[in-house]
Amino acid sequence: MKRLGVNIDHIATLRNARGEKHPDPLYAAKKVISYGADSVTIHLREDRRHINDIDAKKICGLKNVLVNLEISMNKEIVNKALKIKPNFICLVPENRKEITTEGGLNIKKNLNKLEKIIKKFKKAKIRTSLFINPSPNDIRLAKKLNADCIEIHTGKLANLVKSKKNYSSELNRIKKSAKLASSLNIEVHAGHGLDYKTTKMLTKIIDIEEYNIGHFIIGESIFDGLSKVIKNLKKIIKR
Ligand code: PXP
Repeated sequence: MKRLGVNIDHIATLRNARGEKHPDPLYAAKKVISYGADSVTIHLREDRRHINDIDAKKICGLKNVLVNLEISMNKEIVNKALKIKPNFICLVPENRKEITTEGGLNIKKNLNKLEKIIKKFKKAKIRTSLFINPSPNDIRLAKKLNADCIEIHTGKLANLVKSKKNYSSELNRIKKSAKLASSLNIEVHAGHGLDYKTTKMLTKIIDIEEYNIGHFIIGESIFDGLSKVIKNLKKIIKR
């Protein structure tokens, strides 16, 4: 069964816009699971622009909710994550000025650092994923690092599709990368910028086991409601 992870960071963005308590990301985490999501994703950013430490602690403490915590390689955040103990970790690059995660990790440059971090998470029995660009070299390095999963950055594909440009070579790159990772026994996830159309496109790649989607789900829910949007995506993913 293919899985849907719902990123609820932007529930916190909305709450923070008022500086009050509503809408509550903890409540959102329980709700998205009740609507059919397989897991909840939150990104504890170094600048805490959406999810904060208290949110992360409470959400990761929920029983019967699988939580995927996205973090950078920052030492303080890594130690925090080890204390909070989410079910899953996804290591992502972070750049102060970015609006959202702009690309995959530079694995080659951070090989030693990543090796140490992954060992810590694996010792704590936390499934560990690396957010990477669809590149065969990075996938081979992810294997060397003993990562459980990779999440392929689908932002470039999403941008090409949205701007009606030719996306076939990018889709092909994702397909080849997913196949290679799968053949190396690395579980394949996909995420960033996905909506109904691009998710449907990616379901043709049988190696992708999990989709992590945030901004589109929260935005579309304003019009159609969270329950309906999650159910629509689950239906697409099941095909
Ligand atoms: N996966 C990862 C690793 C991400 O960093 C993000 C953005 O935080 C997403 C998925 C979700 O992206 P979007 O909000 O564009 O759906």
